[in-house]
Amino acid sequence: MIRKHLATVVLAVLASSAMAQEAPYTVAEGNKVDAKTMKGWKTWRQAACERCHGAHQEGMVGPSLIDSLKAISKDEFMKTVLDGRAEKGMPPHPFLKGEKVDALYSYLKGRSDGKIGPERVQPME
Ligand code: HEC
Repeated sequence: MIRKHLATVVLAVLASSAMAQEAPYTVAEGNKVDAKTMKGWKTWRQAACERCHGAHQEGMVGPSLIDSLKAISKDEFMKTVLDGRAEKGMPPHPFLKGEKVDALYSYLKGRSDGKIGPERVQPME
């Protein structure tokens, strides 16, 4: 009985800490975003990821990143973008190391979560 109760408490704590985990982006009205997310979008355009993943991240030669980011972890994302998967057609992007790949994740995660719309983003006031 006590054990069962403890398990419930542990589960409740785990659930609330998972919920408390903050989104890596801030967005209002679907396209007004914080500075980091803005940088992510610029990086997306500069690196021309759209050539293979589509203008709206919906997938072309490369998979839909809307779907992918629901499944892969941030670490997997960073590794795939930086190191690539040359044998499968995903080129490495070592020049995005650091802030850029981190910002890119924020933008794409917001797209994948359906919080950031497909239209051009703007800086928040
Ligand atoms: C030349 C085409 C090409 C370009 C440019 C490209 N990708 Fe990819 N990408 C691919 C292909 C093809 C795959 C699928 C690899 C596989 O099958 O494992 C992929 C896979 C990925 C994955 C892993 C998806 C998953 O579900 O495991 C991520 C994340 C990703 N790309 C992000 C990016 C980002 C961000 C950029 C821009 C910085 C980019 N890609 C540029 C072709 C490309």
